[in-house]
Amino acid sequence: MTERITIRCRENGPLVLPANFAIVDHLGNEFTLPQGKEVIALCRCGNSKNKPFCDGQHKQVGFQAAEAAVKPDRTGGCETTSGGH
Ligand code: FES
Repeated sequence: MTERITIRCRENGPLVLPANFAIVDHLGNEFTLPQGKEVIALCRCGNSKNKPFCDGQHKQVGFQAAEAAVKPDRTGGCETTSGGH
């Protein structure tokens, strides 16, 4: 069974995940992961000069992303943040 990993969405920043994965390009060639890191940050702002990895450009461009996962309510539906409808 494959270990389940958690990918964290940093507020206004990259996706961060444990460095025990492989990432390949559209031709199937593997990118070399940054060495000596326990976690890897993947760009989600589109401005990195070292895609698919984050190089910190998201700060320079003022990338905004603060989505939050919707928690299911106890009845199996979706929790609402406003009065609901
Ligand atoms: S998320 Fe960091 S450079 Fe894009």
